Order: sequence, then structure tokens, then C-alpha cells
Amino acid sequence: DRMTANTSRRVLLAAPRGYCAGVDRAVITVEKALELYGAPIYVRKQIVHNKYVVQTLEKKGAIFVDETEEVPENAIVIFSAHGVAPVVHEEAAERSLASIDATCPLVTKVHKEAVRYAGEDYDILLIGHEGHEEVVGTMGEAPDRMHLVDGPADAANVKVRDESKVVWLSQTTLSVDETMETVDALKDRFPRLVSPPSDDICYATQNRQVAVKQIAAEADLVIVVGSRNSSNSIRLVEVALQSGAGASYLVDFADECEDGWLEGVRTVGVTSGASVPEVLVDGVLEWLAARGFDDVSVVTSAKESIQFSLPKELRRDLRAEA
Ligand code: F3S
Repeated sequence: DRMTANTSRRVLLAAPRGYCAGVDRAVITVEKALELYGAPIYVRKQIVHNKYVVQTLEKKGAIFVDETEEVPENAIVIFSAHGVAPVVHEEAAERSLASIDATCPLVTKVHKEAVRYAGEDYDILLIGHEGHEEVVGTMGEAPDRMHLVDGPADAANVKVRDESKVVWLSQTTLSVDETMETVDALKDRFPRLVSPPSDDICYATQNRQVAVKQIAAEADLVIVVGSRNSSNSIRLVEVALQSGAGASYLVDFADECEDGWLEGVRTVGVTSGASVPEVLVDGVLEWLAARGFDDVSVVTSAKESIQFSLPKELRRDLRAEA
């Protein structure tokens, strides 16, 4: 009967989800730069790790490159939200590029911590994922003082100069729980390990993990919208599975969802990574509604109001234009 139908197939939509303040700022930076200076605008690396965002900006005239040397001399280049090592700023200056730095201020905060502790001659244990752009950028602030620790098992491999002068820092988009395990393992090895002055895992990463935990406990299936190279999105799948979801999948677009996932499923959780525009979540909700999952409840675990001002280079030129 209708009552059963209503209660038997439902969708729990996590809040907060999707865009964080750093992504919002980075995407607007590229859009405003295109309006102000005209296409093409070069962007070093994906501005944020989302396929749809990158495709949309490409259509508007952004050209994404992997390395600074691919940008023609004197052109405008935007650095992505994940941050860059100081050497990248030097490379850009050598090519006489006008650079706009869209590094998230919460990544910049970690860079500054790295510089400060390196200056005080600490060995810095950076917890993060090998090869991730943010890690490459942060390590570049003090290459000979930093050691990458990629998960709890990696703690055993670290070698430092002086065990009484060690600090840990982290990538902003890690699993909160796994990072604490890594820190515990590091503390076992280095009892005098110093912790960062404030959380390096950013508010958005933390809030999205808390939110997905709330829905995962009740969900047979959790669909996370996000790209394969998005660290915080992949973490949401892991956290969902660790928090009781029967299954969890990462999709860029609704058409990657599979009917088979819904077999025997009554409750579907939906969330999205910090680089994901809401239109992609709408697509997944439509896909679910077309299969009888049209009873959507929003489960809110936090309100977010943080906003960042645009990069100063861009603000200056926007003011001059006005
Ligand atoms: Fe910044 Fe965190 Fe977003 S570091 S870009 S606010 S995921």
C-alpha cells in the first residue's frame, strides 16, 4: 500500500555536501579572469578535482596544463586550489607569466606552518597521499625537512634527525579517523611529537565526513558524487563503508549509476565531494526518482557560512576595471 511505498524507498541527502569555500573561490577566479582578461586563460593543473567543472571551464576558454613550461610567455596562469611549491612561482616569473594564485587559504595555512617549523629546524612529518598535488606543493616549501607519511603503516618507515624535534602536519582532505590512527602510530615512535596549532584537515572535509556518517548508518547504499582523483570524495566512500553503509560508490555523473545497485535496497544515501557542483547531485536524485526513490529527506549535521575573498591579484584588476 501507499504507506509502505513511502517508507520503504527513501533517500537521505547529506548536508553539508558539495562545494566548499575554497572550491567556490577557485572556480569563480577562473570565471572572472575569463571575463576580465578574455580567453584563453591558462590554468596549471585541474583548478579543482572535478571532471564537469574542468570541462565547463574549458568550453569557456580555460586551457588546463600540467606544467608551467606549457604556458606561453607573458600569458596569464592561474594556480589551482591545491596549492603550489615556491619553485612553481619562480618558474612562472622566469616565463614572465602573470600569475593568479587560487590556492585555498586553508592550504596556504598549512604551507605557512611548514615554513615556520622548518625555520625552527623541526623535522616535519606530513601525513598525506603520495603524489597528490596538495602534498607536492606543501612538501615543496621545505623539501629537505619534510617526510611524507602515507597512512598508519607508513609511520614505521620514518627517519628523523632529532626525535625531540618532530612535528606532524597533514593534507587538508584526509579521513579524520585514519589520520588520528596515523598520529597515534607516530606518537608511539616519537613521544615528543608536536601537533599543529590547529586542524589541518579543513572544516569542509570534516563536516562532509560527519554528514556522511549520519546517513551511512541507515543506508543500504551510499552514492557519492565526485571524481576519481578527488581525495575528499574518495574519503567519503571509505567513511560511508566504515560507518555501516551496505555499499558505496563514487560517480562523476548520474549515468554511471547502475540499476543493479538498487536490488534489495530501501534507503539510499547521497552526498558529494567538496569540488562537486549541485547540478550533478540533482542528476543523481533524478535518476533515483525515476526508479521509485523520490522520497528525499535532507539530513543536516552542520551549517556552513565560511567564504573567502578572491585572490588579491584578481581583486586589484577587478577594482581597476570598475
Ligand atoms: Fe580548501 Fe578544504 Fe575546500 S582545504 S579547497 S576548504 S576541501
